[in-house]
Amino acid sequence: MTPDLITKYDARVPRYTSYPTAPHFHAGVDGSRYGQWLAHLDSDTDLSLYIHIPFCDTLCWFCGCLTTVVNRPEPIRHYMDYLLQEIDRVAEQLGDTRRVTHVHMGGGSPTILSPDQFHALFDRLRKHFTFTDNVEIAVEVDPRGFKESAADALAEIGLTRASIGVQDLDPEVQKAVNRIQPFETTRDVVDMLRARGVNGLNIDLMYGLPHQTAPGTVATVQRLMTLSPDRVALFGYAHVPWMKKHQRLISEDDLPTAQQRLDQFDRASATLRDGGYVPIGLDHFAHPKDPMAQAHAAGELHRNFQGYTTDNAQALVGLGVSAIGGLPQGHAQNVKAVRDYAEMLDRGELPIERGIELTAEDRLRGDVIGRLMCDLTVDAAAVAREHGFDPAIFHDALDQLDDMVADGVVQRDGYVVTVPDTYRLLVRTAASAFDAYLQNSERRHATAV
Ligand SMILES: C[S@@+](CC[C@H](N)C(=O)[O-])C[C@H]1O[C@@H](n2cnc3c(N)ncnc32)[C@H](O)[C@@H]1O
Ligand code: SF4
Repeated sequence: MTPDLITKYDARVPRYTSYPTAPHFHAGVDGSRYGQWLAHLDSDTDLSLYIHIPFCDTLCWFCGCLTTVVNRPEPIRHYMDYLLQEIDRVAEQLGDTRRVTHVHMGGGSPTILSPDQFHALFDRLRKHFTFTDNVEIAVEVDPRGFKESAADALAEIGLTRASIGVQDLDPEVQKAVNRIQPFETTRDVVDMLRARGVNGLNIDLMYGLPHQTAPGTVATVQRLMTLSPDRVALFGYAHVPWMKKHQRLISEDDLPTAQQRLDQFDRASATLRDGGYVPIGLDHFAHPKDPMAQAHAAGELHRNFQGYTTDNAQALVGLGVSAIGGLPQGHAQNVKAVRDYAEMLDRGELPIERGIELTAEDRLRGDVIGRLMCDLTVDAAAVAREHGFDPAIFHDALDQLDDMVADGVVQRDGYVVTVPDTYRLLVRTAASAFDAYLQNSERRHATAV
């Protein structure tokens, strides 16, 4: 990819973990509306649960997640009390709809919970919900300070997959982002989990961090491949200091340029491909035998609020502050502050802050964007017909792609739109042509590359 094409198309566009995207949620969707949505789900609807734990031991300066640093157990205990209450309240609304196929604990760092807290959480979930035999139970792991006792507790609750945060192994980069984590720390966590039968292991890496270089990124990837992870995520650092004030601790002079970021991604990606990993969508790589690679090959990969997933449950229920749920009727997000969360639960309300009810057109556009983000290709006319729409609805969107087509960044054959492998990092920009909400003036996202 040439630098001028990056500059031209490296727009500030959403990551499309939902459509419509979160900035378009509004206060018209509140706890009572969301409660009705839950109550009206069919009893045979498969559920997926996302549980947000908004705490960490220390702050990584690049962090874009919703988290707070805590050094005492009380705030976590207080939060967990309310989380259990929210689970009770949601289960009450759901009535008989209780079959769960996926549980994902994200954060923050869920591994900050004590063994007793993991057990209390899963005892409560199992009290209300029926986990299917092949349920996926996943957790995001901060390897620093991870103990054998945490590995025991996670194995006991039935953990099947762990996403281990690494980012980069270069000590200079680690220092520049306030995250010291030697390779051995990660290796020990992998060993602890595998020894307990947790076999789905993902590693999170980043490019575009301060002082990061392409050779350094390659060295990081090579060393981590010796641990044979099943999946690797390679996230581009989203530098949004106007939203995440602590990112100002990172000097912009130390950040790589757009071209350097691209080199880092290309070289790391080539190393993963040479190592036998299959590239998936924007930023994932999976071992060919991993379910994500298989779902991708079958055209059955999905994108939800956590990114790429094999999860095809019809209803995603978000639990905990800031968590977003996606139901057939629409999306809804919980309040972000623990104080508001606790107050709303004390008042007997579901702690929803905002959301959006989906129209038929939202569902259609969401499907087109989702297929493009997952498969890098979509037959927009076929999707339109499946949804009962005239494909002509996409004429404006296709016209908007003209420049990208002329530059070879997108290929188009009638209604079939394809982003070639070389330009996969620009898939968000291509997808944004189908986004009816996006205003050109909207610049609240990180750059696409
Ligand atoms: C919730 S964290 C993972 C678990 C744990 N908190 C940790 O960091 O080890 C999720 C992942 O998001 C990615 N991430 C965090 N901030 C980011 C940012 N500003 N831009 C891109 N990726 C980011 C990192 O790769 C991180 O591992
Ligand atoms: S990257 Fe992970 S460990 Fe670091 S502050 Fe963010 S959530 Fe916490």
